[in-house]
Amino acid sequence: MTYEDTFANETLLQELSESFRAHNQIPEALFSRYGIKRGLRNADGTGVLVGASWLGNVHGYIVNEGEREPIEGRLTYRGYDVYDLIRGLEAENRFGFGEIGYLLMCGALPTRRQLSDFQAMIGQERALPNNFTEDMIMRAPSRDIMNKLAGATLALYSYDQNPDETTVENVMRQGISLMAKFPVIISHAYQAKRRYFDGDSMYLHMPDPARSTAENILHLIRPDGSYTDDEAKLLDRCLILHAEHGGGNNSSFTVRVATSSGTDTYSAIAAAVSALKGPRHGGANLRVVRMLDEIKANVGDWSDEDEVAAYLRKIMDGQAGDGSGLIYGMGHAVYTLSDPRAVALKEAARPLAERKGFSREMAMIELVEKLTPAVFNEKKKLDKPMCANVDLYSGFVYKLLGLPESLYTPLFATARIVGWMAHRLEELTTGGKIIRPAYKPLGKAMEYRNLDERE
Ligand code: COA
Repeated sequence: MTYEDTFANETLLQELSESFRAHNQIPEALFSRYGIKRGLRNADGTGVLVGASWLGNVHGYIVNEGEREPIEGRLTYRGYDVYDLIRGLEAENRFGFGEIGYLLMCGALPTRRQLSDFQAMIGQERALPNNFTEDMIMRAPSRDIMNKLAGATLALYSYDQNPDETTVENVMRQGISLMAKFPVIISHAYQAKRRYFDGDSMYLHMPDPARSTAENILHLIRPDGSYTDDEAKLLDRCLILHAEHGGGNNSSFTVRVATSSGTDTYSAIAAAVSALKGPRHGGANLRVVRMLDEIKANVGDWSDEDEVAAYLRKIMDGQAGDGSGLIYGMGHAVYTLSDPRAVALKEAARPLAERKGFSREMAMIELVEKLTPAVFNEKKKLDKPMCANVDLYSGFVYKLLGLPESLYTPLFATARIVGWMAHRLEELTTGGKIIRPAYKPLGKAMEYRNLDERE
């Protein structure tokens, strides 16, 4: 019997689903009656305060006289503005993702000696365990690299001689190892997908301990392993911009929740990878690319504001796009006027788009950014600012770099691992309590009836 056959009974599935629907409706009014903070949000849209953190600060509005006032977005890592970090690294023409990992996980910018020791350790940890690619990736390849990454992360538990100890030293070691290995796992998983699902050739290059994360990714993914310094530096900028986003973002909060139960590093990080996959979170970068392709295929003149706006209305009505009503790459839970990550990626994308002949496409994305707020406010009968988020431009940058779509969200995970590990370390040392909110119970008292007495 195949996996599909097990679920072939459509009628039974329908019956089971109808039973679920009949017994699981919750009237909207109930949420406000009990003051339920759906999505852990307060009534004014701000996030419920559930902890304190030294790591990232996502600053998107100020509260004045109880009202949210929109401002330009600002992102800081341990107090450093992400723009300053990028400018500093660019001025010295250096790769910076390793250094940002050090900053987030260890707490301060490293000295030259500390950085070199840290990078040497990452280099030592790059290689996957013997036969890991064969046993854990190629024997069970996946169409979705995020699922493979979550599975491979869990599998690494078996190769760790000391997997469960939650001391800072042990968790730091595990964090550096995962930071080093994620690029190799996603690249090899991508190669296996090419071989088993796409009918393409598979190229299994070995990681180079001396190269940066961005260089290793390009080297491992491209058949001939080659790349230019400019390409690697652009990818390095993408990794830096995706490294951390406060404790409230969905996947980092997932790390916090899992960590608070006392589970091991591999379990907590696999859970975060799974959360990041969702299209409302990291998976949005893939949906953006699909949405843009759809606009190009269906809108006669993509530079025509009226035509593009009409299509955006159709997306919001659920008649186009993926049916969710969402214009991907737009909107953010915290940022109002701008998402600094989107600003930085857009700036980086423009010259490359011109060089590679993608200026028309870039102009269309900018049009989506410009038109969406008005379409959104018209449809929702609101008057609130809405900005492009990081995902509107990240997929485009990856496309300009010739990276395959199936790796867009895994690249996000490869960057965010340092933020996740920093949150895990912080939760372990400062959390102290298992995270355990409450759900209003709705069940009525029921009397048990024997099988023959049920209708
Ligand atoms: N397109 C269409 N509708 C959107 C929207 C978008 N891009 N962003 C928000 N909305 C809708 C929400 O679905 C919600 O509708 P509802 O009241 O009918 O349920 C309403 O606007 C209010 O949403 P809001 O509170 O402003 O946003 P949020 O904090 O709940 O959600 C996101 C934030 C990022 C999840 C949301 O903007 C979104 O889904 N964007 C598209 C996906 C995306 O790009 N994600 C990447 C995030 S970095």
